[in-house]
Amino acid sequence: MPVMDEIEDMPSTTNHWALLYPQADQRHHEAALTHAMQRVCASGSYILGAEVEAFETEFAAFLGVNQVKGVANGTDAIELILRALDIGEGSKVVVPSFAPSAVAAGVARSGAEPVFADIEPGTFTLCPESLEDLLRSPRGRGVKAAVVVHLYGHPASWESLQRVADAHGIELLEDCAQAHGALWQGRAVGTLGRAAAFSFYPTKNLAALGDAGAVATNDAALAERVCLIRQYGWKERNISLYAGVNSRLDELQAAVLRVKLGALNESILKRRRLAAAYDALLLGSRVVQAPVVRGGCEHAYHQYVVRCERRDALMQHLQRAGIPVAVLYPVPLHRQRAFGGGNEILLESDRAAAAVLSLPMHPYLSEDAVRVVFEALENFKNEGS
Ligand SMILES: Cc1ncc(COP(=O)(O)O)c(C=O)c1O
Repeated sequence: MPVMDEIEDMPSTTNHWALLYPQADQRHHEAALTHAMQRVCASGSYILGAEVEAFETEFAAFLGVNQVKGVANGTDAIELILRALDIGEGSKVVVPSFAPSAVAAGVARSGAEPVFADIEPGTFTLCPESLEDLLRSPRGRGVKAAVVVHLYGHPASWESLQRVADAHGIELLEDCAQAHGALWQGRAVGTLGRAAAFSFYPTKNLAALGDAGAVATNDAALAERVCLIRQYGWKERNISLYAGVNSRLDELQAAVLRVKLGALNESILKRRRLAAAYDALLLGSRVVQAPVVRGGCEHAYHQYVVRCERRDALMQHLQRAGIPVAVLYPVPLHRQRAFGGGNEILLESDRAAAAVLSLPMHPYLSEDAVRVVFEALENFKNEGS
């Protein structure tokens, strides 16, 4: 029995990789997107208008959170949350070292210094023990918050992280840029911390046709401050309360996001079915280790990431077979020049950076595509043995 149904409405092709996800997603929604964009073009309102407000309300309902505020991108969302909490120069913010550099960049833009903790090897998310060690060490002096990244779409160990954060009196913030649709103990990620940052970059599970982002929170005062800061700190037109920024969401992107939000649950289910197909085939593989899902968590599979030895050789082998694979992320943040470039060892982050490989994953792939990837992986075993 097929693990995953063929996806309807997609052009059938023997080349599974002809369309990458952003374009496949656009094609899938083309008629509705065109209609929505024509509506915006005719409206005469192009920035922070009715579409943005409607998207904010609809996405808040999707998550089960009181407030969503649209901003220009996910990096800004991190910066604006910190600024709204008055966390900036003179403060430190913990970031998992194995994460995209955008997370540390967003922290740095607030004026705070990013400091790095290690990850759990199974889920690639912030390790509560490493956070605790950091907070107890001299480097932990001045830490005001931690940004918890639900990397690849797997929820972090929230309960343990919250316990550590509470014991040390720091804010726990979420980065959900890769985790739209992930659940922790039945709750959507983005509703767990004081506030959450989302990105809707075109490769994300919920994807705009350009840059877009949002802040989600149950804290009305925090949401209000984000609103002020995202537009020059204006309390009213041309009257600023804060030295804010320009990080507005535009009407076209909000209208696009409204169309795609309506299909988000279904597309996450398709990602999960595809992941199940990979899992079933990779069971007992000697080439790669399939990703784990911790009990009580629903993975959103923004990425399907395996671990392997001889990663770079395997990547080249798959690329020669025409299969689009990627390494996210090759250099841990604590080793990057922009963030100190130290020689400190964060063992699990270093190990993950050397071993991870993202296999093709998006809701428009078929079970056949998964089989093609599996067969190419098996050939590598033959090559290697
Ligand atoms: C985990 C994570 N955080 C933050 C960002 C930054 O988002 P953006 O590219 O919209 O600024 C990204 C994405 O690129 C991301 O994957």
